[in-house]
Amino acid sequence: MPRATGFIPLCIPNIGVTERAYVQECLEAGWVSSAGPFVERFEREFAETLGVSHAVAMASGTAALHTALLLAGVQPGDEVILPSLSFIAPANAVRYVRAWPTFLDVDPHYWQLDPAELRAFLRDDCTRSGGVLRNRRTGRRVVAVLPVDILGHPCDLPAINKIVEEYGLALVEDATESLGALCGGRPLGQRSRLTCFSFNGNKLMTTGSGGMVVTDDPQLARRARYLSTQAKDDALEFVHQEIGYNYRLTSVQAALGCAQLERLEAFVAAKRRIAARYAEGLRELPGIHLMKEAPWATACYWMYTILVDPERCPTDSRSLLQELAARNIETRPLWQPLHRSPAHHQSFARACPVADRLNRLALSLPCSTGLTEEDQRRVIAAVRHESAAHDRRPLDSLHLR
Ligand SMILES: Cc1ncc(COP(=O)(O)O)c(C=O)c1O
Repeated sequence: MPRATGFIPLCIPNIGVTERAYVQECLEAGWVSSAGPFVERFEREFAETLGVSHAVAMASGTAALHTALLLAGVQPGDEVILPSLSFIAPANAVRYVRAWPTFLDVDPHYWQLDPAELRAFLRDDCTRSGGVLRNRRTGRRVVAVLPVDILGHPCDLPAINKIVEEYGLALVEDATESLGALCGGRPLGQRSRLTCFSFNGNKLMTTGSGGMVVTDDPQLARRARYLSTQAKDDALEFVHQEIGYNYRLTSVQAALGCAQLERLEAFVAAKRRIAARYAEGLRELPGIHLMKEAPWATACYWMYTILVDPERCPTDSRSLLQELAARNIETRPLWQPLHRSPAHHQSFARACPVADRLNRLALSLPCSTGLTEEDQRRVIAAVRHESAAHDRRPLDSLHLR
């Protein structure tokens, strides 16, 4: 095993010359707040790229989710259905509107909100009376589903949409981790009435911090813009009919976003190349399970993640994390399932054995769009070494591309 050399980070931004040029242009023009042409340009180009009518830029993905839940009409005391396996932000956003997240399990193949579980919850745990759907156990009104396309892979949105329509629920999609992925050949953003994206530092493209709400409904877009700019009714006299938020993206961030957006296709291609190399380099290792792509999906592989099954492998996910860290390779487990989160202990949840298992077994590997082939070979060699004590095939025999 070669000795560890330079540090290989998990997932870092890829900032190029165009980013610097646009940010400089923005600064030289004095556009530092949300005023100026960049925010509007970023919104327009983002909407065009995704093939949707409207995009409204936000200060973060979390702000986008909060705003989208307000737009969806979620009221205090309502319940919103979420997958248990997700970063905590969408669950927190549900609490911001004083509603309650309800956690359901994910499917074992693609790790996304399981439509079968969604149907089972609505059929077995809910009751309808006087036209209102209620959770039998909590008595609360169930009003919306918030599927999260985790790790760069779309949920089974056609199946979820069908159930949502059948039960008359609202749908807010959290596609923050899956910009650039397709569902049934169509970009995410086209499948739900409201879809949210994030441009946080580790996302496929970044504005440092930032987010976007996209929709085909002009009224929703107008209201998103209104709520995110302090609900200003009269800009001159400062008249406000409602409580709004300071959620707008700044011009400097939007300038960065315009440049990153030009490279979106190249970023997705890079992530898919990285995924293909991992799939090739780690295939057939006992106890190592690779990410799969569903028949409806073209994943963007935002965060390449493997499962390490300690019953079939000489290591486990947390030991492997330590072993790779000792070799200067950064990795990360998945989030604590939300039905176990102390922050959300008052929320209703069905049993989530798949989310629990994935949490124990999953480990995300380095996958920056700028990851070199040489560094990826080092990661693959290290994983093979630690996880397959008896697999000593030389790397060259694996025909890594
Ligand atoms: C699933 C998910 N939802 C929401 C967010 C929140 O986005 P932001 O960090 O831009 O607020 C993130 C990540 O950051 C996320 O992974």
